[in-house]
Amino acid sequence: MSPSLPTTELSATSKPEFYAAVKAQIAAVLDPTLTQTANLANVSSVLFYALTDAPVSRKINWCGFYLTEKTAETSAKRRMVLGPFQGRVACTVIPFGRGVCGTAAATAETVVVADVHSFKGHIACDSASESEIVVPILTKDAGGSVVVEGVLDIDCLEQNGFDAEDKEGLEAIVAVIADIFKA
Ligand code: SME
Repeated sequence: MSPSLPTTELSATSKPEFYAAVKAQIAAVLDPTLTQTANLANVSSVLFYALTDAPVSRKINWCGFYLTEKTAETSAKRRMVLGPFQGRVACTVIPFGRGVCGTAAATAETVVVADVHSFKGHIACDSASESEIVVPILTKDAGGSVVVEGVLDIDCLEQNGFDAEDKEGLEAIVAVIADIFKA
């Protein structure tokens, strides 16, 4: 069965309104009875096309997920593996602490990079990318400790592609996505 999207107008005049509309669309496509793969595949599609289609027409070239590998490795060896995405072929494994994604995962904080060429250690999957935002997906374990489940990564073909309102809007969306990671 294909999920139906609410017809919320995405030509919202402000970024907060735009992200609120996209969040509603994403909440509508999430189905906690299905796999993370099915859910994140549709989320990456909703987000990518909401950002790139007219009238928003942002120059986004990659939008997707890296997911923390579930292993018994020590935290020093934690790494993420490529998840569902829209865009060109990407690197498949990113250790915590490496690149923009690994930095967001290691710090459990969103990283906004205005110019990827000035970010030491940036991993260039698509050489056309000029700026990037990475938002960690956070849950809590039974003891209340923060668990980094993975990250949402979005790349832009222009420098300064993301600002504080994008960060706020995407963090609110990722908080909704995080619900499907809860046991
Ligand atoms: N640029 C990222 C790697 C992932 S790709 O952009 C899809 C990084 O530095 O972590």
